[in-house]
Amino acid sequence: MKSIVIYFSESGNTKKAAEYIAEQTKSDIERLSPVKPYPKDYDKLVEVSGDELDNDVYPEIKNQISFDNYDTIYLGYPTWYHQAPMIIHSFFDKFDLKNKTVIPFTTTYSSPFSESEPFIKKMVINKGIELKRGFRANSNSEINKYFSK
Ligand SMILES: Cc1cc2nc3c(=O)[nH]c(=O)nc-3n(C[C@H](O)[C@H](O)[C@H](O)COP(=O)(O)O)c2cc1C
Repeated sequence: MKSIVIYFSESGNTKKAAEYIAEQTKSDIERLSPVKPYPKDYDKLVEVSGDELDNDVYPEIKNQISFDNYDTIYLGYPTWYHQAPMIIHSFFDKFDLKNKTVIPFTTTYSSPFSESEPFIKKMVINKGIELKRGFRANSNSEINKYFSK
């Protein structure tokens, strides 16, 4: 069985981390795209993403992904408002990941991984997913540190 890196990234930091992780773990890779793209303008992005969070909106995901050939999913996201973006809720809602292992990783400005971890834990409740310890992936050395343990 193979592994796949699934990630969401707006400004490219998580994309960079995801590509490095895919290379290091010989995983396939796919970027999550919302049906309705987020605004490029930072202030507008803050407004739209804040509204989603406040109103518990699950933005629709464009991707159709079959996980049949994968047993492990590295799941990357930027930390937004000390947690994972709402599209990560959409991800767990849209795809049946029963019996899969999920390893989350995040890029952030300053938040440690431990801030978003409890939110991910909640998202996988009763889904038959094995959630492994995740990590912050702001740099290749931070990523290497995780894989050397
Ligand atoms: C709406 C929004 C909220 C954010 N909230 C946080 C936060 O709570 N903590 C933090 O350290 N960084 C925060 N950031 C910074 C991002 O986590 C950081 O820039 C991340 O690497 C962006 O990833 P990306 O380039 O893959 O989109 C926020 C950024 C945005 C746009």
